[in-house]
Amino acid sequence: MVDIVSVLPDLAGDLDDIAIGDHYSSNAGSPWLRVNFVSSVDGAATVDGKSSGLGGEADHRVFDILRTLCDVVLVAAGTVRTEGYGAMVLDAAAVAARVAGGLKPQPSFAIVSGSLNLDPSSDVFAKAPVRPLVITTESAPRNPALAAVADIVTCGSTAVDPVALVRALVERKLTRIHCEGGPSLFGALLAADVVDELCLTVSPLLVGGDSGRIVKGDVPDVRAMSLAGILRSEDTLLLRYVRAH
Ligand SMILES: NC(=O)c1ccc[n+]([C@@H]2O[C@H](COP(=O)([O-])OP(=O)(O)OC[C@H]3O[C@@H](n4cnc5c(N)ncnc54)[C@H](OP(=O)(O)O)[C@@H]3O)[C@@H](O)[C@H]2O)c1
Repeated sequence: MVDIVSVLPDLAGDLDDIAIGDHYSSNAGSPWLRVNFVSSVDGAATVDGKSSGLGGEADHRVFDILRTLCDVVLVAAGTVRTEGYGAMVLDAAAVAARVAGGLKPQPSFAIVSGSLNLDPSSDVFAKAPVRPLVITTESAPRNPALAAVADIVTCGSTAVDPVALVRALVERKLTRIHCEGGPSLFGALLAADVVDELCLTVSPLLVGGDSGRIVKGDVPDVRAMSLAGILRSEDTLLLRYVRAH
């Protein structure tokens, strides 16, 4: 397993999974919306259309640990389709870490979609340990097959309103919200100013080309963020920024 060390705070030695979890547990208010992305050094959010070409072992390890710290994993439909998401099932070690931290054994899975173009027979729904939520709009087409396998939650008329989305999750006692993307959803969350934290893995790659960034879409104001933590694993940096007050 690749070593991960803490640069900020400056700690000696490599970190085990518990120490990495502690690193990401400080400063959290309630509710708390964290987003997690990986980017190349030159700002690309994908290689050949997917993020999987960017993340190395350290990124994958932290990606998994972040899922052990939340009530709900929030992902937009574009990322679910492109990255080929399966069921949100954490392994036994992750379940043990969650239970030790006072969380339910498995996180809820909430998918944001305006079109409801999601396959109800896919593993995302068919093998889900917790009935997933699909967050959508009043103008979405009716999809009884999807409604049979997921709770359909309406948050907005023609686009999902992030403020209503957070409210709907909090009403379900899902206050530790962990968003895994993608860029369009992150743009909408930023525009509504509901993002409390960005975890960003900077991967030691120069990608070039016309890959998108981690955010798509306009945001009304430039947002200042405070650096809350830095982990390092060989040439990879794992940065943690929180809302600046
Ligand atoms: N580098 C990284 O860490 C990272 C992480 C995640 C994803 N990605 C990459 O990002 C790319 C996908 O980009 P994307 O911008 O299409 O991603 P996305 O944000 O995952 O998905 C966009 C889709 O999500 C739904 N959606 C998002 N916001 C919505 C809103 N406010 N209201 C209603 N629906 C909303 C819509 O789904 P419907 O079409 O169903 O209406 C929309 O078409 C992929 O290449 C993926 O690999 C990279």
